[in-house]
Amino acid sequence: MIEISNITVRFGGIKPIDQLTATLTAPVAGLIGPNGAGKTTLLNVLSGFVKPMEGSILLAGVPLLSLSPLRRVEAGLRRSFQTEQVVEDLTVHDNLSAIADHVVPAGERARAVEAALSHVRLTDVADLLGGRLNLFQRRLVELGKCLVGQPKLILLDEPAAGLTDEEGAILRDLVLGIPAVTGAQVLVIDHDVELIRAMCSETMVLDYGKLLALGPTAEVLANDNVRRAYLGEL
Ligand SMILES: Nc1ncnc2c1ncn2[C@@H]1O[C@H](COP(=O)(O)OP(=O)(O)O)[C@@H](O)[C@H]1O
Ligand SMILES: [Mg+2]
Repeated sequence: MIEISNITVRFGGIKPIDQLTATLTAPVAGLIGPNGAGKTTLLNVLSGFVKPMEGSILLAGVPLLSLSPLRRVEAGLRRSFQTEQVVEDLTVHDNLSAIADHVVPAGERARAVEAALSHVRLTDVADLLGGRLNLFQRRLVELGKCLVGQPKLILLDEPAAGLTDEEGAILRDLVLGIPAVTGAQVLVIDHDVELIRAMCSETMVLDYGKLLALGPTAEVLANDNVRRAYLGEL
């Protein structure tokens, strides 16, 4: 469970997050909103790259904001980036090992990396260099990195960006399997509303840094304010 209380972020004159209060409980929760709504900024606040001016966040009851980004990783926080961050001159296996070195005890690293590779179906290409991968494989490496160790919260920033519908469907199934396999909660940003509908039982909508709606995904997507502000309907 993520409990966000009264979070405000200021960059110069703008507030990309403005007094946001929201509690997310679903195993796979969605985060949507128009471009510039503050979605990536919220992920940056959760992962420790951006410090809010005020507010607090609890992850499974534990205060998050006083921890450094590395401490948050050690506490089970993982994230993928809107632009994937695969290291080109490391193999797929070693891209995941680099995370394991920080968060898994030495004797258990090989097994932790194998389990993560297997979940994202990259075992067969484990020895390929990052630079040889196609976009879908890169997205899977990003997801695999999030699964190494014992993640508690996985933040995915547009993990299906640039993928075909077929690839997006595979990714959706992998994401849906994460809570059962790892016990982690997932918070996912995506522009594809149908993908969000298929993945997320609960969805939060941001608009100019404010909470526009939060609740069961079907209700949120049917909400008049959401349809007007975000889906361009009504
Ligand atoms: N490092 C930054 N410095 C200044 N403004 C920023 C920075 N990062 C994001 N912003 C601004 O904050 C707002 C929210 O951005 P962002 O969180 O990236 O939105 P989203 O991911 O929903 O598209 C935008 O107006 C953006 O230009
Ligand atoms: Mg973004």
